[in-house]
Amino acid sequence: MRVLGIESSCDDTAAAVVEDGRRILASRVLSSARLQQQYGGVVPEVAAREHVMAIVPAVQETLRAAAMSVSAVDAVAVTRGPGLSGALLVGVTFAKALAAALKKPLIGVNHLEAHLYANALVEPVELPALALLVSGGHTSLFWWQDHGHLTLLGETRDDAAGEAFDKGARVLGLGYPGGPEIERLAAAGIDTGHRLPVARLGADSLDFSFSGVKTAVQDLARRYPDDRAGIAAALQEAVVKALVLGVDRAWRRVSVKHVYLAGGVTANSHLRAEFVKWGGDRQATVHIPPREYCTDNAAMVAALGYWRLKQGERMAMDAGPQALFPLGSG
Ligand code: KG4
Ligand code: ZN
Repeated sequence: MRVLGIESSCDDTAAAVVEDGRRILASRVLSSARLQQQYGGVVPEVAAREHVMAIVPAVQETLRAAAMSVSAVDAVAVTRGPGLSGALLVGVTFAKALAAALKKPLIGVNHLEAHLYANALVEPVELPALALLVSGGHTSLFWWQDHGHLTLLGETRDDAAGEAFDKGARVLGLGYPGGPEIERLAAAGIDTGHRLPVARLGADSLDFSFSGVKTAVQDLARRYPDDRAGIAAALQEAVVKALVLGVDRAWRRVSVKHVYLAGGVTANSHLRAEFVKWGGDRQATVHIPPREYCTDNAAMVAALGYWRLKQGERMAMDAGPQALFPLGSG
């Protein structure tokens, strides 16, 4: 079963063909991040326009790389939300037209849930498990009971972890997206001993809070203008520490063997190393997707689409994108 995945929820136009929910035949990501960099963040109107121009080339390149004709596609899966309305509309409209023309099933998937399925591209996911999603817009902890059954345990009360990186990077005069820039700068410096506060919520809470990080970075940047690398390292350290603490707290409560991480921030090397260390300490098996499948891509969309297809789910031809699409209510 070959599923063509389409992703256009933010500033990446992506297409991929995945066989049986696991084997990637081809995956392409055309990013408008460099263009968005001029504006210091994603401008929805610009993102939508870029998707219109990139979507056909992205799909064509993917099919060429997979050495497949479009008629060999068995189903089309598309990100339905959450995301920017105009951006989602491009992917959803394209996917509907293609599925209708090919007379093949169409599956609309949740972008956040799709991030978790980047793990299924490596080996079958073993459920139940704990799952942590850390992206530019979300920081959420889930009890992942079974395919299609997630319960939200905790989430950020303010900024997402990725946002903390992006805002911190802006304060330090770095480019967008901020995460990779912070990681590069932190790796280039030495530990100069700065420490940022790690927000601690009530003992029972599995929520996160990152809104204090930006102010703390601003403060350090004013006091130590020549130590941007040290400040970047401190920012990275604080965000990762908060995430490890949150997962540890949840893990002690539910006590499962498997922990799945996903989302753009999990591309971060320090985060990956710290979670592997934590897994060793707790004898938990920590799964993290390959770096290139942590950030937005369509292989994860196709992987989730495959599972939904097997469960008999279809997207109605008169359905549209769903810009607000919470995950984890059951
Ligand atoms: O999952 P993603 O690609 O898009 C969303 O669904 O939001 O996540 C993007 C976020 C951005 O905030 C970006 O700064 C962050 O992931 N990110 C990173 C790294 N690569 C991307 N954060 C820290 N370290 C990285 N290497
Ligand atoms: Zn994403």
